[in-house]
Amino acid sequence: RSTEERRQDLAGRHVVVSAGGTREPLDPVRFLGNRSSGKQGYALARAAVARGARVTLVSANSELSDPAGADVVRVGTAVQLREAVVKAAADADAVVMAAAVADFRPAKYAEGKIKKRDGQEPEPIVLVRNPDVLAEISADRARPGQIIVGFAAETDDVLANGRAKLARKGCDLLVVNEVGEHKTFGSEANEAVVLAADGTETPVPYGPKEILADTVWDLVAGRLG
Ligand code: CTP
Ligand code: CA
Repeated sequence: RSTEERRQDLAGRHVVVSAGGTREPLDPVRFLGNRSSGKQGYALARAAVARGARVTLVSANSELSDPAGADVVRVGTAVQLREAVVKAAADADAVVMAAAVADFRPAKYAEGKIKKRDGQEPEPIVLVRNPDVLAEISADRARPGQIIVGFAAETDDVLANGRAKLARKGCDLLVVNEVGEHKTFGSEANEAVVLAADGTETPVPYGPKEILADTVWDLVAGRLG
């Protein structure tokens, strides 16, 4: 679409974007985390504001500055992210899950700082599964016709893995990044293919995260009709 057509094509729509990476605490000072910067999610939020949407950005531990015009909800853990996304999704036209959500969290949280003791080996860290937010909101849509978008970084057979994940999650669109060739974490650019549940594939050449963001919103706006 041209810039002109895109301009206000999300006017009157509420969209939810999750961004960043969750942190799962072990004790008051330590956590299990990931390297997601939040740049892609923030680019999606800025692009949606520019296209006229009301935007709720659920941000997990990102250091980026709040996008002007978006409502920012800050979260730490996957469980907190789930709660914020489910709440915001209740009246949303579209939800884009760009956040890196931890698959597991420590089974127990130590209220006091974990200390080492002379001559003692450390306790193993036992993990439990976190909720799968994307699968949950896709299976249990808050609104008929709500468009749900996931992100996946894959290696090896990227497209086959992406197709299987799209089906497993039950979302409408899955943005698949090939990791390895160009680093995605923390970089300014991205290369991807957007897989749709209707079988279509939209390649997005290596370029700024803003381009990928606008491609995602083009596909969402087209499906919202
Ligand atoms: N996701 C989620 N909740 C989780 C894990 C992932 O909502 N507990 C979302 C991510 O935000 C992303 C999509 O699911 O949009 C795909 O994440 P990914 O880690 O690729 O999927 P997994 O099912 O966790 O598969 P894998 O075992 O390959 O990590
Ligand atoms: Ca995962």
